[in-house]
Amino acid sequence: MDNPSLPSIIPALAGRRILLGVSGSIAGYKAVDLASRLTQAGALVDVVLTESARRFVSALTFSSVTGRRTFTDDDLWGPDSHILHVGLGREAELLVVAPATAHTMAKLAAGQGDGLLCLAALSSHAPLVLAPAMDAGMFEHPATQANLTTLRQRGAVIVGPVEGRMASGLVGLGRMVEPVDLVGHIRRALGQGRSLAGRRVVVTAGGTFEPIDPVRIIANRSSGKQGFALAQAALDRGAEVTLITGPTTLPTPVGAERFDVETADEMRREVEERLDRTDVLLMAAAVADFRAQASSQDKIKRSAGAIDLHLEPTADILGMVAERRRRSGGPKVVVGFAAESSDLILRARQKVKAKGLDLIVANDITAPDAGFAVDTNRVTFVDSSEGVQALPLMSKADVAEAVLDRVEAILRQ
Ligand code: CTP
Repeated sequence: MDNPSLPSIIPALAGRRILLGVSGSIAGYKAVDLASRLTQAGALVDVVLTESARRFVSALTFSSVTGRRTFTDDDLWGPDSHILHVGLGREAELLVVAPATAHTMAKLAAGQGDGLLCLAALSSHAPLVLAPAMDAGMFEHPATQANLTTLRQRGAVIVGPVEGRMASGLVGLGRMVEPVDLVGHIRRALGQGRSLAGRRVVVTAGGTFEPIDPVRIIANRSSGKQGFALAQAALDRGAEVTLITGPTTLPTPVGAERFDVETADEMRREVEERLDRTDVLLMAAAVADFRAQASSQDKIKRSAGAIDLHLEPTADILGMVAERRRRSGGPKVVVGFAAESSDLILRARQKVKAKGLDLIVANDITAPDAGFAVDTNRVTFVDSSEGVQALPLMSKADVAEAVLDRVEAILRQ
């Protein structure tokens, strides 16, 4: 059986044709990891190596991870040469050059057609993503910077380089970005013009923290993983995504605008401020329901013995959204989340009504493989007409896709 917690097919990459050009740099080893990640996510990755790249990494290495033929300049003069360079460029939905050396970028900027990679790039109309890797001095050189400006003006996305130790032993701005980050940029580029293009999606994620004193808090257990997966899935579909999150160490999905908040009140403010400009609100955050009536400025001393802590409810953010929608309109689609320990469907139905939601994503937090911190979730959808759909155990990424399928269906109504 498939293990839903293992990295799996990414719908935004599945079946997509990606041409990966590799030029001559020691960072070529990272391109192998990139090719592997893209392939495991379901992409069809054609790799073209420049002559100098072949000195660092072999065609066999790439073919071994992509399961496809790897191309080199030898193929330029082979029997298929008349169609190869045009075919590779035309069939690609995205061209990524990683690592991109100063030399290869100079040729791409000048539109030179020597070598299979440059020829394929010239015949391609696909978006171009470049991940420069070189010595920091070479990167800073006005010639390199002018080439980058030219490429950027033509629409290329330049990712990195980042600061760090380079092959020369020097430390500076010249290291290729990590493959995991590059995958995010590739997803972003491939998401342009997809099914949620032009839609503004606000996602709340994580749990809020309500202070008791300067060191203690009331918090909800939440890793933020489901909310972040929703933000990523919306980006993959071309949406403009704002992520409002409680404290978490999760990395921001590439392309999302992120606002970090601590308390329910801060989250309410951030959501409220954007309501008029929001098409879809996905309220995945585990907002603390109670806060201390008065938080202490000073650390409460243990020696004081037992204390009385008076709690008051926090502002109901979805309640405020429902009120706004009744009065003056607001997001076209609002999705709530409910973590329940009993009477899942009954309570979900009540919350859909009480909070004026289009859909609620309910999960039973007593199940060991669903809920907090784990990568999987088992959810049930309840919609505004009380329709119930129970989904099997899934990765949180797949739950996010299922939520967005429902959101798109509501938007189409
Ligand atoms: N929520 C909110 N504002 C709050 C608390 C929760 O907007 N102050 C949102 C959550 O983000 C979630 C939904 O309401 O999308 C349901 O949260 P939940 O805590 O299950 O609902 P409550 O109304 O607080 O009900 P309960 O008494 O079960 O805690």
